[in-house]
Amino acid sequence: MNSKLQQIEAYVFDLFHQDSSGHDFHHMKRVANMAKKIAETEKANPFVVEAAGWLHDIGDKKLFSNPEAEKQKLHQFLVSLELSEQLIHEIDMAIRDVSFSKGRQPETIEGKIVQDADRMDAIGAIGIARTFAYGGSIGSLIHSDDETKGTSVQHFYDKLLLLKDLMHTSTAKSIAGQRHRVMQSFLDQFYDEWNTY
Ligand code: NI
Repeated sequence: MNSKLQQIEAYVFDLFHQDSSGHDFHHMKRVANMAKKIAETEKANPFVVEAAGWLHDIGDKKLFSNPEAEKQKLHQFLVSLELSEQLIHEIDMAIRDVSFSKGRQPETIEGKIVQDADRMDAIGAIGIARTFAYGGSIGSLIHSDDETKGTSVQHFYDKLLLLKDLMHTSTAKSIAGQRHRVMQSFLDQFYDEWNTY
């Protein structure tokens, strides 16, 4: 199984190593590793969890100009690894669970784990760095005194500070608390500096 995961890693490297929007190869690597760690204390298929962690952003509409074609290519790649149809189906389900995050609960434990791992990478110090990288990539302001603007700082209140309470697994819940505090102290310091002059 390991060599299949190595091939998956190489496939992901090709697709994401030049990304500068916070969805780079290292995001995929951290999500795969975090998902693997969370899965240690859950009844889940560890191969499906790790593979879906690596692959979860493939076909994301904000990252690919032709998401459907990218998903088909991924399917062909998984077939070429000679994974069973059942395994491919389970990986697909887990990825779909993550991308359906808005207003829909994941149906599979593997999907819940990968969603927790993806959300974990959106908070804490890495989450802060990724927020501003992504904001820059879509032309958002860092911050504005006009609260109606969709700034990167506003994104903390709209989404990131809510994530610790949305984690599914106990492992993720226990890690998320500390990362949440890192964001809060970052924002405190940010406003101190913003308001000084
Ligand atoms: Ni992601």
